[in-house]
Amino acid sequence: MPDPVHLLTNRVVLPRRAVAATGRPAAEKAALGRRLQAVHNSELQRVGFHILRLLENEHSLFDLPRYVDRFYKTYIYSAPQVKILYDDIQEGAATNELGRRKAPFVYIPFELGDESLVLRIHDPAFRQYFGDMLRDPTEILFEQRVGDNIYQYMWREDYEDIRQYAIRLVFDAEARLPFARQNNQTYIRGNPEFRGLMAHQIGELVGAGKRILSIGPGQGELEALLSTQYLQNVEAIELSPAMAAVAREQGIRVHVGDAHQMTSLVSGHFDALVFPESIGYLNLETIFQQSWAILAPGGKLFIITYTIKDGQPIAGYRRQPYRELAAALAKHGFQVERARTFIPIRGRIAISREQADISQSEKEAPILYIRAGKI
Ligand SMILES: C[S@@+](CC[C@H](N)C(=O)[O-])C[C@H]1O[C@@H](n2cnc3c(N)ncnc32)[C@H](O)[C@@H]1O
Repeated sequence: MPDPVHLLTNRVVLPRRAVAATGRPAAEKAALGRRLQAVHNSELQRVGFHILRLLENEHSLFDLPRYVDRFYKTYIYSAPQVKILYDDIQEGAATNELGRRKAPFVYIPFELGDESLVLRIHDPAFRQYFGDMLRDPTEILFEQRVGDNIYQYMWREDYEDIRQYAIRLVFDAEARLPFARQNNQTYIRGNPEFRGLMAHQIGELVGAGKRILSIGPGQGELEALLSTQYLQNVEAIELSPAMAAVAREQGIRVHVGDAHQMTSLVSGHFDALVFPESIGYLNLETIFQQSWAILAPGGKLFIITYTIKDGQPIAGYRRQPYRELAAALAKHGFQVERARTFIPIRGRIAISREQADISQSEKEAPILYIRAGKI
């Protein structure tokens, strides 16, 4: 399976298929470029400029929604033709071969009428780091320098690859920080009681000696519990090589790669698939299709995710309402067997409502747990 992005010393190269997908007739591009120019200096640039300033002060991806929200309420005037997809704003950073100089960038996805586009912003001082991110420079509809920054507008078709790239960089950086400085202390990592409860739910139901695949294990705490306490045979797929390295130290067999290609990363069938605070980074269509293919008959799928409740500290993570996840599962032949929400507080856990009235509790409790079966 091709790695979604290769880091070649200080250069970043996107796979060719991403570039091929962006091809459009030159006249169409020029027309869109002109439309963009007409609106470019309004809402988008203000958001971008402000976010870059925040990043320079070492704010991470996980703080972004808070700042974007504050900024939005304080400064932005209306630019009705532009619809910014705030939940999908991505921060990333390219580093040189020694990992010393960090070149921060931000991707802001937005819609202009029917067009889906991405604004990439970076500092001109770091231009060399971004040169190869798009092999075909004509994919940049237009580019503008504003103060210390370069604003590049491009087609949205690249966006999923860009998203993967940013997610991977963020988690690589995160894995290298000491625990106390990590921004992403997920509920599973940060709350041992919650972690224990989740391991219990999965471990008891699936049973000892069974084959489990975890998607996005991060540093592998939950997976270590499943393998040592519940004696299960655990494998994992992790996008970030640095996270995978830490999980391996816990004795987990980790395949480094993109879970959207899970069928080509693992072999044989699994008794259970676990998504431990990772489903929001994934495309449900592809993921559930592939999950179906690698689950054994009667296999189980466990999702631990964030609800639509506001104020979650994680950006770039899509928070789907329960009914959307349940519909996507049903579409791919999975039957929801159990769903409930949790309020994990250090030292204890409050369990909220069950499936039937989750539409209310998902607005109050931050964690959603779903168990589905392959029927
Ligand atoms: C919020 S973290 C959760 C980590 C861990 N399970 C925990 O609970 O602490 C999400 C993890 O999913 C991984 N991830 C994101 N997109 C992925 C993909 N496409 N394939 C595999 N792993 C992915 C990230 O690298 C990250 O380690």
